[in-house]
Amino acid sequence: METKKKNGFASGIGFILAAAGSAVGLGNLWGFPYKTATYGGAAFVIVYLLCVLFIGSIAMIAEVYLGKRAQANTITAYRKTNKNMGWVGMLAIIIPTFIICYYSVLGGWTVRFTVNSFQWNSANTNAVSFGSFISNSYLPLIFTFIFMGLAALIIMGGVKNGIENASKILMPMLFIIVVVIAIYSMCLGEGVGAGLNFYLNPDFSKLGFDGVVAAMGQAFYSLSLGMGIMIAYGSYTGKEIKIGKSAVMICIFDTLVALIAGLAIFTSVGHFNGELLKPFIDTLGEYGPVGQYYAVHPSLSGVGLMYQTLPLVFASLGWFGKIVSFLFFAMVVIAALTSVISLLEVATQFIIQKFRIKRKKATLIMAVACFMVSIPVAWSVGGAFDGAIMVFGFDLLTFFDEMTNTVLMPVGAFLSCICIGWLIEKGGFIKRVNPMNTFRALKEDGLELGWFGKFFAVMVKYITPVLILFVEVAGIIGKITDYRVSKGLNFWWVIGASVLLLAIGIAIYFIFFSNKETGCNADELEIEGANA
Ligand code: PFF
Repeated sequence: METKKKNGFASGIGFILAAAGSAVGLGNLWGFPYKTATYGGAAFVIVYLLCVLFIGSIAMIAEVYLGKRAQANTITAYRKTNKNMGWVGMLAIIIPTFIICYYSVLGGWTVRFTVNSFQWNSANTNAVSFGSFISNSYLPLIFTFIFMGLAALIIMGGVKNGIENASKILMPMLFIIVVVIAIYSMCLGEGVGAGLNFYLNPDFSKLGFDGVVAAMGQAFYSLSLGMGIMIAYGSYTGKEIKIGKSAVMICIFDTLVALIAGLAIFTSVGHFNGELLKPFIDTLGEYGPVGQYYAVHPSLSGVGLMYQTLPLVFASLGWFGKIVSFLFFAMVVIAALTSVISLLEVATQFIIQKFRIKRKKATLIMAVACFMVSIPVAWSVGGAFDGAIMVFGFDLLTFFDEMTNTVLMPVGAFLSCICIGWLIEKGGFIKRVNPMNTFRALKEDGLELGWFGKFFAVMVKYITPVLILFVEVAGIIGKITDYRVSKGLNFWWVIGASVLLLAIGIAIYFIFFSNKETGCNADELEIEGANA
């Protein structure tokens, strides 16, 4: 069927907002402030900014370009880059799918906290209520279901009517809320200065080698790189976008939200610490079995800060606190939702195109499958059934998180850079073109970056892959020691499971997909059109 209709984003800004929606998530709102607090405030922030500038933006351009030139799902996209590399696309489907299974549990908790905002008082806002909620055997599942359902509904609407339209509404809302909360926090008075001082005064003695590795890892995670997301979203763009400019805008948006979230968190923690938090931290250990994920740094770490410390703060503010609480958690829901949408879209896109199934059905299959896996994850991290569900001593959320982010994500990011820098096959230019002229070859291939082109070529070919390898190796070594020392756990299990997953993914690719058509974006129009 000939059609002029395009399957994808209707506008450049739609794409940028959707990609920013993927990037801005829990990583910005809690990961960034928490790591900043751990690794010396502004010292960490400076290194983080350099990582976004020199590594993140390069990998972002590489991935968006891979997608845009292929106009297809991640497997086809990698195949079109180099006929031997389709298996990388398989990894780019499996990794985000694993992330969904724990990310939506946290998303579900956040939905519950948003809904509950108007009931907060100091009696129900303590560790007991949080602990009993997450360790309940069915409540967290209901909220995870609601959260996943919301994401699925939006994806079912399609790229333009669902993902793009939702992002166009949700992202500006999120930005306004985070700014309002930051301004409010900065006006709290006493303690704000101390908080700001902590945030903006670089303490390089706390940064260290670990801090640098953490900053690089955080940059990849926060920008949603190494997982096929930007390839999938990039595939829905066409001539209307300039890749370089769009990538820069996505990076700026993501970084700005992280920086503003930092302002809000540090000023409010500065104001509310001491009296309010101390008794709570002292008694935390008493409240039943808790997943390791949030037991690590009770007051400032991600889950502790977001679900325990902040509700206490909100409760202390009376009715006004209820409004702030609602705004705050609504913001977190929006951030997490737009991220899960992107994670879910990668596999959905592939299923639609490969199996020629309608979007609604493909989304449903993916959402149900992920929800099933998220059930044991929710039980495990919440400590339901007396904390019985653990793997090798890890709760499942931590296990999945480490597998995907510490071990597998750098693999994906590394391969995307290598494919763009060394393996693009169009016109066989690899053989033709002197390697030093990669930038010209990329230009011939269609990647127009202006003055930035030469810099990009050198980075994507040599420097960024080396830095990513560094993140992989140093990150893994760090985790092996960290877990052994702090909890007596063996990180090698995580590495083993990741390698197994990689092997299974690659085997599936070669057994089932490597010799077959894997579809492209135009197929979706045909499928929906034919059955409409
Ligand atoms: N970038 C999101 C965050 O910062 O929370 C999380 C995320 C989404 C990571 C999508 C990876 C991904 F592929």
